[in-house]
Amino acid sequence: MLATKRILLIIGGGIAAYKSLDLIRRLKERGASVRVIMTAAAQHFVTPLAAGALSHERVFTELFDREAEHDIGHIRLSREADLIIVAPATADLMAKMAHGLADDLASAVLLASDKPVLVAPAMNPLMWSHAATRRNAAQLAADGVAFIGPNAGAMAERGEDGPGRMAEPMEIVEAAERLLAASGPLKGRHVLVTSGPTHEPIDPVRYIANRSSGKQGHAIAAAAARAGAQVTLVSGPVNLPDPAGVDVRHVESARDMLAAVEAALPADAAIFAAAVADWRAASEAGEKLKKDGNAIPPLMLTENPDILATVAHLSNRRPRLVVGFAAETQNVVAYAQAKRARKGCDWIVANDVSQHSGIAGGVMGGDSNAVHLITAEGVEHWPEASKAAVAEKLIARVAASLGPLGAAE
Ligand SMILES: Cc1cc2nc3c(=O)[nH]c(=O)nc-3n(C[C@H](O)[C@H](O)[C@H](O)COP(=O)(O)O)c2cc1C
Repeated sequence: MLATKRILLIIGGGIAAYKSLDLIRRLKERGASVRVIMTAAAQHFVTPLAAGALSHERVFTELFDREAEHDIGHIRLSREADLIIVAPATADLMAKMAHGLADDLASAVLLASDKPVLVAPAMNPLMWSHAATRRNAAQLAADGVAFIGPNAGAMAERGEDGPGRMAEPMEIVEAAERLLAASGPLKGRHVLVTSGPTHEPIDPVRYIANRSSGKQGHAIAAAAARAGAQVTLVSGPVNLPDPAGVDVRHVESARDMLAAVEAALPADAAIFAAAVADWRAASEAGEKLKKDGNAIPPLMLTENPDILATVAHLSNRRPRLVVGFAAETQNVVAYAQAKRARKGCDWIVANDVSQHSGIAGGVMGGDSNAVHLITAEGVEHWPEASKAAVAEKLIARVAASLGPLGAAE
């Protein structure tokens, strides 16, 4: 869920700042990039050097920074973030946020931002229960700021006990994941994705397959989950881990895949990225076929169900947006346009798979893809990009097409 997310971590001047160093590590372990701002007070507790070494990025401390300000650094820091985490959030920082003060880098960035904000308060229980902090916390919650903690327990101050301990780094990570999913453009949507090849049995040990790796379909499922969708991924046999935060149904054959797809409906959008075998063996031998010196057995084929066309032609449970993939080796766009009309789907993502090497290069099995998006409006040629980037772009288009969750739905 946090993979590829850009987190801006603001460290305030509290004793819990040491836990924020661990938080940086936990966020990075999950694939997030982390930029750190430290208040002047925070630097009495932990050093920018430590935060920079862990985040692998320059740490920002000054509002009036000659290097950063030529391109309005404090605005850019917010713009280039998906989520701002304030940890520890001091009583002072919360007061500034609640009142819109902006006299240092941390508070100026928070004011010049429209990004989701998660605060992890940490302070003495008397500070936390003070009427001023109560008012500020209520104001921040009303402003849409999310809170994690504080937890109750022993304080750093000797003998002090009560609510005010900063939430543990993993609790903050999980809250960040929830918040990102809840604020994504596909929040409340169910997206169904198919991925990988299918295996069509000939006998108990042999099957017909294709070169699909599942990388593109899995990247699409992961991107949809990051955008906040509930995602069902129906995957053929692949050598890929299940994407985080995705409900994965593993299948083998085209017929299994169709059954799993039908069971997963209804969905708001269905993206059929799997390379489903067009044909299967007309009859599957119950025992292994033997090479016993006789004639070579003929392989008779029969047609598989067409999952894309089946779902696109459903009368009552058709997803609002049905997207197919076309892998072609020639006349890519023309074939894909014809396929869009024939299958009754809304969009076709077409790619040229004529370059395959079968091992590392090419589209099938490779890590990058140059696709054409074919819609009712026309054809868009997307430049070659990583499959992850193609997935992000496609999911952004899906979200724009579905629009915000409406009251009428
Ligand atoms: C040893 C020490 C520990 C402190 N711990 C906290 C704390 O946990 N929470 C808090 O809100 N303030 C704490 N303070 C007070 C803040 O550091 C002080 O209010 C500071 O101005 C906060 O600045 P900032 O909000 O810009 O980081 C502590 C101060 C000292 C000297």
